[in-house]
Amino acid sequence: MIENVKKTVFIRTFGCQMNVRDGEVLEGLLCAEGYGITRDAGEADAVLLVTCSVRQHAEDKVWSEIGRLKNGRACRCRDGRRGRPVIGVVGCMAQNYKEDIFRRAPQVDIVCGPSEIDNIALYLEEALRRKGSVVAVAERRRNEAMYHTGFREDKDHAYVVISEGCDNFCSYCIVPFVRGRLRHRPAAEILKEVRAAAALGITAITLLGQNVNSYKQATKSSGRQVAGSSRRRVGGKGDFVDLLGRVSAVEGLKSVSFITCHPKDTSPELFKLMRERACIKKYLHMPFQAGSDRILKVMDRGYTAKKYLALVDRYRKLVYNAKLSTDVIVGFPGETEADFAATRRLMERVRFDTAYIFKYSPRPHTKAAALGDDVPMAVKKRRHAQLLELQKTISRQKKDETAKRKDETAKRSSC
Ligand code: 5AD
Ligand code: SF4
Repeated sequence: MIENVKKTVFIRTFGCQMNVRDGEVLEGLLCAEGYGITRDAGEADAVLLVTCSVRQHAEDKVWSEIGRLKNGRACRCRDGRRGRPVIGVVGCMAQNYKEDIFRRAPQVDIVCGPSEIDNIALYLEEALRRKGSVVAVAERRRNEAMYHTGFREDKDHAYVVISEGCDNFCSYCIVPFVRGRLRHRPAAEILKEVRAAAALGITAITLLGQNVNSYKQATKSSGRQVAGSSRRRVGGKGDFVDLLGRVSAVEGLKSVSFITCHPKDTSPELFKLMRERACIKKYLHMPFQAGSDRILKVMDRGYTAKKYLALVDRYRKLVYNAKLSTDVIVGFPGETEADFAATRRLMERVRFDTAYIFKYSPRPHTKAAALGDDVPMAVKKRRHAQLLELQKTISRQKKDETAKRKDETAKRSSC
């Protein structure tokens, strides 16, 4: 009589903010179906892992978690049934490995790709009834309803997805292969979600997309891009600047931020809007990835270091007290000491507030994987440590400068 007993699910999320939101959506969907959510994996009937494939290291963490689940204790399920919990691999790794996951980890019951998470309750029910393993890896538009469960983990801040997938195909990146081609959510649906969050008393929103600046308005019925020019209409109706303007006008919001901005699509119109709207956070996450034009070209990034620097200068000129963070990769195939020096120079010149620094990790399906992985790990580690040290110094200096400025302002106002 398992059917009538409420089952409990444990969800663990790895990776980026997109996954954090996916994990939250899963929780909302399962709660709506009557499942209980537990923070104790030991008492769960099912364990769902929301996974990341962006680097090998991220996948390794998930594989060892799956191993622990296999070797771990039998679960203490509420109906007294003893046995291991149902194990579901959800998200990017599910899409990357598909059925191969069962070969490598036969204890896994569900393999559910990022496009399929709206059907998770169905797959879970099947697996709990022990009808065998479930694999769902079609690439399709998610059902819009999944974004509107009303469940929010955080009571002050909400992530709102504006687009799924990515069409940029940067040569090192697995995202277009696991999250699929770019699909924009209709603006009306995004606004509905933002208003619902505001109605819950949430005052801070972060709009999420692999490249938010590639956003284009989609019609509600077709889910396709609005007809017209395929060229980006900077600041025109239907693009990201337009969407941000509409979102930031929603009553009750005190802070609106967005990640991530691809430099090739980021426009001064965005900076102007950031300057005009008080509630838009003066913060930009704009990965530069490499300072060498030769490497940027092989990465298929679509800009040069000079263009990136010009964009940063424009941003800082237009937006007062503008904060800037970035992502950098060291040890990309063929990266010489001269290429690395160019990356270093760019970081010294820009002085980012925060920099996330990664060692290159070859990813299946990607163009760069065919180039080999010719920078030795020892060299990657050294370059990684050098950039970390550089950024630490810059961050410390910036903190001191801010404290000094505040001090001077306080002194002036007390005279
Ligand atoms: N190796 C190392 N870092 C990578 N990133 C994406 N793909 C790889 C890879 N194959 C980094 C990029 C990206 C961030 C999310 O992860 O810097 O901006
Ligand atoms: Fe990956 Fe490039 Fe798309 Fe970012 S923009 S998700 S790095 S392919």
